[in-house]
This record gives sequence, structure tokens and C-alpha cells, in this order.
Amino acid sequence: MSNYSIKSLEEYFQVYRKSVRDPETFWEEIAEEHFDWRRKWDSVLHWDFSKPEVKWFDGAQLNITENCLDRHLQIRGNKTAILFEPNDPKEEAEHITYRDLHERVCRMSNILKENGVNKGDRVCIYLPMIPELAITVLACARIGAIHSVVFAGFSSNALATRINDCDCKIVVTSDGSYRGAKTLDLKSIVDKALEECPQVSHVLVAKRTGQKVNMKRGRDQWLDSLMEQAYADFPAEIMDAEDPLFILYTSGSTGKPKGMVHSCGGYMVYTAYTFKNIFQYREDDIYWCTADIGWITGHSYIVYGPLANGATTVMFEGVPSYPDSGRFWEVVQKHKITQFYTAPTAIRALAKEKLDYVNSYDLSSLKVLGSVGEPINEEAWHWYNNNIGKGQSPVVDTWWQTETGGIMISPIPYVTPTTPTFATFPFIGIQPALMDDQGNEILGNQTQGKLCIKFPWPSMARTIWGDHERYKNTYFSAFDNCYFTGDGAFRDEVGYYRITGRVDDVIIVSGHNLGTAPIEDAINEHPAVAESAIVGYPHDVKGNALYGFITLKEVGESRDRDNLMKEINQKIAEQIGPIAKLEKILFVSGLPKTRSGKIMRRILRKIASNETENLGDISTLLNPEVVQEIMEAASAKQV
Ligand code: WT7
Repeated sequence: MSNYSIKSLEEYFQVYRKSVRDPETFWEEIAEEHFDWRRKWDSVLHWDFSKPEVKWFDGAQLNITENCLDRHLQIRGNKTAILFEPNDPKEEAEHITYRDLHERVCRMSNILKENGVNKGDRVCIYLPMIPELAITVLACARIGAIHSVVFAGFSSNALATRINDCDCKIVVTSDGSYRGAKTLDLKSIVDKALEECPQVSHVLVAKRTGQKVNMKRGRDQWLDSLMEQAYADFPAEIMDAEDPLFILYTSGSTGKPKGMVHSCGGYMVYTAYTFKNIFQYREDDIYWCTADIGWITGHSYIVYGPLANGATTVMFEGVPSYPDSGRFWEVVQKHKITQFYTAPTAIRALAKEKLDYVNSYDLSSLKVLGSVGEPINEEAWHWYNNNIGKGQSPVVDTWWQTETGGIMISPIPYVTPTTPTFATFPFIGIQPALMDDQGNEILGNQTQGKLCIKFPWPSMARTIWGDHERYKNTYFSAFDNCYFTGDGAFRDEVGYYRITGRVDDVIIVSGHNLGTAPIEDAINEHPAVAESAIVGYPHDVKGNALYGFITLKEVGESRDRDNLMKEINQKIAEQIGPIAKLEKILFVSGLPKTRSGKIMRRILRKIASNETENLGDISTLLNPEVVQEIMEAASAKQV
């Protein structure tokens, strides 16, 4: 028997040792006993980090939707697979059973096929958190098309870049979307994006808000009428374990977004196994992850991981503050949520509100509380643990990335003792290492370094779409024979890991990964701007906020600075999306630079965080005099 469900700390240690000593036998047993394969693998693992090349279950064949849907029909056909909770609490929740979901996915598969989508084609999905989103994702997987979900808060420019990068010919979207009290015109955003994407020949439009939209003849079709007519069965395409399942974009420290490519077999095995253990899912539980399916958290832990386990997974369309700050807790009470998984930024925002919002609801169904996306600070951890969990539900601080596909470092609830700010032990099969700046592994405990992973795991991204060289350079060149995460970490005396934050030019704002370079590019497009540098600084709700230091082309120009700030933020919203707007902007006469012309972000970071006592040696700068000026301007801005 494989160890599919870990029940004690002793068992965790024993299984962890096995997974490291003999990874192939370990993962083979898990894969063999808990999933349906059309053909078994020829080899469990083949890897070479120098290329880099990683193959799990090579030679095996499967379709992930047979594991997420078909195999549950016999025993769980009438069980709720997806529980859709609408934006408006007055609108009734929708229970989609495994049988319904299977049928709707099959219909959608037929529609995609009829619209010319074949195995290996890329499908762009730009939808709000409505059932069609999960259905389209699964339909792509069923026909072997590669889905590329773009979060429906991204701007038309960001959408166009992503559609073109992987050459999608079809986009699935909706008329509009509800976000709290707001309604967004998704279809117009798509129309605008498609001006830059002439290859897109088909657009399928789900009806959600009923608002009037422009339908382009010969290109756009309403999805609901197609769904009614479509045939309700579709034989799943048989895929190789290493065939791509999806592309998901993540920001990098430089240039355009990276399309991380995930594959069918290993991704399925790892997301299902982590879901089962890290949420301790039991048959009648109602699991709710508040993320959007536009992010990896939603892919792995709203759709694939839960459905592969036959779970009931909640899809929430709304926001935590609508109609008021009690919404999350109202939903927990209403659906008797057992596992609740959210982001520290949401916890911090809700912790600022009156406790009445929490205490008016019965939260006794909760068994596990999860956190993801950024470090959870001690205060937020305690608030979550005391007020939501009442000290009874372990808080699992789960560390992972778009690139890792699944959770990498996390407690197993009721197994691993938790400590605030620590993601604790590596999950089964994960071999972390801390590295020093010389590239050597730091052994022993009570130590800090750059976080790497030494050995492949089944759900790791296999490449960056269209740019394997960039994949190699970004993740496998900083340290020999290791995957580099971009994060720093501390390992304490028992071997628990605390993630200390990014060590590159990525800033995490409200749990969203933002690269500084694309934001600076957007700012520099403003005709008045000469140069800019973005840094992060601590923010009590967002975790980090963005601070922009900007030089203008014409010094002393009497332009209205407030207006200019608005225009710059508008540019950013257009190019990337509102999440990347700057919290603070300072116009300065120069940016501190090294003699080779590199902007010293380290100094700007300290100024932005108001930590100016110890700026380090600035005498070697090209222009040390600007530092004093920037410091004075920044402190004048604080008051
Ligand atoms: C980066 C990855 C994985 C789903 C959401 C984010 C940070 C993520 C934690 C955590 C400290 C965390 C890291 C990581 N991060 N979870 N529990 N503690 N930091 O995915 O957008 O790819 O971002 O988020 O810095 O590298 P992502």
C-alpha cells in the first residue's frame, strides 16, 4: 500500500525518507494505486538539470479529465463537484454534480472541436469566476488542447501579449463580470486586445451580466446556445504523460511574461497527492479556495487537485468585502466549509474590520485554514488562528510557485506542529537546499540562504513556452544542478523553513507577482518620463506596495505633478492592469547609479522603507549627491 494519506509525524518522516531515498519507487506506487492510466509508463523519471530536461512517467498515457470526472461517475455521480457561489449573496448558489460537470465538459469539448480546436492547439480563456471557466479548462484538457487562462483583471494589452506569445486562435470570454459592486466589460477588453491579434478567428462568449456587447460577425458566438445544441458525450483524447496540459503566465524580473508549461501526468499526480494531504480532505468535506482560477492556485487547488480526489470544490465569484466584510464568513457558515484556503493580504484586510463581521457567523465546520501567496506575518497568522480557527484549526502556510505547479513546503495539518511565519517542512518528495552567494550549499540548521530545489518533483514546469533558453537561464543557471526559486529562506533548529521573500526584482503586491521591468517599461512610455525605478516597501494590507522614483525629461517643467501621477498610473493600468499601479511616486532629478550605469535599487528600497540610517557605502556611486536629495524629498512626502 502506498502512503496516500499521512496521519502522524512519525509517518511523515518515514514516508519523506522513502521519497528521498528511492523517489522512483515512491512516486510509482502513488501513481499506480490512485489514478487511471490508459497505458503505464516505461520509466518513472528521467532528468538532467543541465539541459534542463525532466520527464515523469514517460511513455504513460492518460487523460486528466478521466481522473477528474469519468472515474467518479459510478460512486459520486450525484455528489457536488463544483459549488458555485455568486457575487451577489441573494443569487442562489449552484451545485454542479460530477455527472452534470462531466456532461457540460463534454458539450464544451464538442464546441471547441467544432470550432477547429485540435490536440496541441492553444486556447486563451479570459473569464470571470463562473462555472464556464472551470468547464472550459477541463474541456481543453479533455480534447488535448493547451489552455492558457489569463486572469480577467488583466488589461487588454496584457491579454494581447499573452494571446500572441503562444499563438492562440480562439478566445473564450464572457459579456461582462461582477466584482463586488462593480461590473466589468470583459468583452470590450477582448475586442480591444484582438486588434493586436489578427490570427484569432473565433471568440466564444458566455453570458453572465446580460449587458449589451458588440458581436463581430463571423468571429464571435454566444456560448449558451452552442451548449444547448452540443452533444453531451465526448471520448477523452489520449495524451502522453509529458504532453503539455496548460500554459500559465507569470511575471519575471525582466521583459515579457514567462509562459510556464505544465504537463499532464506528473502535474496530476502531484497536485492530487498534495491536495489530499495538505488539506486532509475527507469524502464529505466542502473545500473552499478563494483564489481566482486565473492563477496557479486556482488551477491546482480549485480545479485539478480537488476534482482528482472526487472533492466538492467551491468557486466564489465575489470579493471579500462585498456586500460587507463578513462575506467570507457568511459563505463558510452557509456551505459548512471544512477547509478554507486564502491569501495573507485578504486576512490582513479583514483583520482591520470589526470582529462582529466574524463573530456573527458559525465557523465551527472549519477544520483546516490555508494561506498562500506571500509570507504571512505573525499578527495576521494569530488573527486567522484565533478568530477564524478559534485555535482549533491548524493554519497551513503553504509555500510554492506558478513554476512548481503544486505546494512544496507546508505543514500537514494535525501532523506537523505549526509555528507562525514558518511554512515548516518540505512536502514528501521535495528536497530543498539553501545556497550561499558563492553557489555552495549551506548545510546544517539555524541558517539562511537562497532557496533551491535539488531534485525534480512531478509537477515542475517543463519549460517556458517558446523559450527554453530563458527557462534554463532563469531557473537553472544561478546554481549548478539545482532549480533556483528566486526566494530567500531561513531554516531553524528543527529544519523548519521560513520564506523571507524574493531575492530578485519581483515584488509581491497583495499576493500578485509583479516584475519591476515591465512596470518601468510602461512608465517610460509616458512622453514626459526620462527614467524610472520601481521598488517595493512594506504595506500593512498589501504586504508590499510599489514606490516609483521617476525622472522627467524637462527638468523644472511646470507640469501639474498630480496630473502626471494619474497619467502614469493610467499607463500602468493599460499596459499591465490596475494591480500594478504605484502607491507612491516621487519625481527626482536623478536616480542613484553605479559607475557602470546600473540603477542602485538597494538604496531606493531603503529610502522607500524609511530605513535610511544604514545606506551602505554610497561613495562609489556615479552620482552620490542625488541620494541626499531623494532622501529629503521622500521624507517630505511621508508627512
Ligand atoms: C512567489 C510565487 C503559489 C501560488 C501563489 C503565488 C511567494 C508564495 C508563499 C508563502 C512566503 C510565498 C514566493 C514565491 N510565496 N507562497 N506561503 N510564504 N512566500 O504564485 O505568483 O508564482 O508567486 O510567491 O515569493 O516565489 P506565484
